[in-house]
Amino acid sequence: MYKIQTLNNISVVGLERLPRDTYEVASDIARPDAVLVRSADMHKLDIADSIKAIGRAGAGTNNIPVAQMSKRGVPVFNAPGANANAVKELVLASLFMAARNIPQSLDFVRKLDGDDKAMHEAVEAGKKKFVGFELPGRTLGVIGLGAIGVKVANAALELGMTVYGFDPAMTVQNAWQLNSGVRQAVSVDDLMAKSQFVSVHVPLLDATRKLINAERIGLMKKQGVVLNFARDAIVDEQAVIEALNGGKLHAYACDFPSNALKGHPRVIATPHLGASTAEAEDNCAVMVADQIREFLEAGNVRNS
Ligand code: MLT
Repeated sequence: MYKIQTLNNISVVGLERLPRDTYEVASDIARPDAVLVRSADMHKLDIADSIKAIGRAGAGTNNIPVAQMSKRGVPVFNAPGANANAVKELVLASLFMAARNIPQSLDFVRKLDGDDKAMHEAVEAGKKKFVGFELPGRTLGVIGLGAIGVKVANAALELGMTVYGFDPAMTVQNAWQLNSGVRQAVSVDDLMAKSQFVSVHVPLLDATRKLINAERIGLMKKQGVVLNFARDAIVDEQAVIEALNGGKLHAYACDFPSNALKGHPRVIATPHLGASTAEAEDNCAVMVADQIREFLEAGNVRNS
């Protein structure tokens, strides 16, 4: 019998696909053969020497010591694409929220007080204060054309936006998935200079740390909006705050807000909700559970 430990409440729906007669699945287990994890930082945990495989129920693997595990011969399986639709939907929601000043408007309305006449007058004042803009014809740059970036790019095209994409490691498969309307930027700088909106969909690596910095934000078109639903460290937060305050950026949307960012009126901040839908959680759990089963039962390594 194989023993699989789960951390962070991995969806049981996914694990039910594992044959129960050959696996024991629990959150606390002695000498597990494999571990499935969502967001727990495994750099800080002792990884038992009984473990033969690690599953990460999401796309990013920065919470797993992948290099250390490779040295031990332990494959790390992730779930690329399994939560891409969920992330795309939150990126689009944030795009609309930024363009129509929704966070500031919600805050404005919540603070209103008074009788019907006073409310009516305040509402009309809000109407003038929060004039937004529409998306057709505006430019979106998508950095990182993996499963999520491709979905965001294609959805933006359908909204009538002009879309530029850049990914130094773009595979032929991803190029094929891109709607033919997506234009290729020659570099990150080229993409930034062409875009009013920029959405980041690269993993956190040494090469992508502070990829979006003050110089690059300075290249963007007027009323710039940066959307970061990848990892916080990819964007230089101090540069964002200065660009928001200096008027270069209209809004910043992020899924990992810091204390300094969270209260800014033009920051749209969510608590790592990109993949937090019931569907995405199940898809990710099923994808990694299947890979771990294949590995433990047959030694097959798919997508590690
Ligand atoms: C991912 O890496 O897939 C997303 O950030 C979602 C998550 O970590 O759960």
